[in-house]
Amino acid sequence: MKLLPVVAATMSAALICSTAFAADGAKLFMEKTCTACHGKDGKTPLMPDYPKIAGQNVKYIEKQMTDIKSGARSNGNSAAMKGVMVIVSDEEIKDLAVYVSKMKP
Ligand code: HEC
Repeated sequence: MKLLPVVAATMSAALICSTAFAADGAKLFMEKTCTACHGKDGKTPLMPDYPKIAGQNVKYIEKQMTDIKSGARSNGNSAAMKGVMVIVSDEEIKDLAVYVSKMKP
């Protein structure tokens, strides 16, 4: 009887480290009152001249939120949103941007 050599395969364990959970964005969208002006679905704005944001590009969303927060963007109605941005951190902006970009437009 012939014994076959044992081939040891290299096992690699993929360690998934994640600090952000998918639910974070949804929770933040409610908690930070984004829903009040943009609607629960991101496309039912409170006022006719408020933007629909659902499905917008993630980088664009992040940039607009950052600019509205800093005041770099202060056009149209951006002052209305600036007030809420004091309670939104840069990290939260990122989570929110991902969430909003994935909403159905
Ligand atoms: C008090 C109302 C209000 C709240 C609360 C508010 N927004 Fe806005 N948001 C606006 C208005 C008004 C604009 C358009 C500003 C302008 O005319 O330049 C805007 C613009 C935006 C834009 C840019 C849209 C574009 O097409 O350029 C994004 C993205 C956005 N809001 C996301 C959010 C998120 C996420 C939250 C929650 C943290 C939030 N907003 C909270 C009123 C609000």
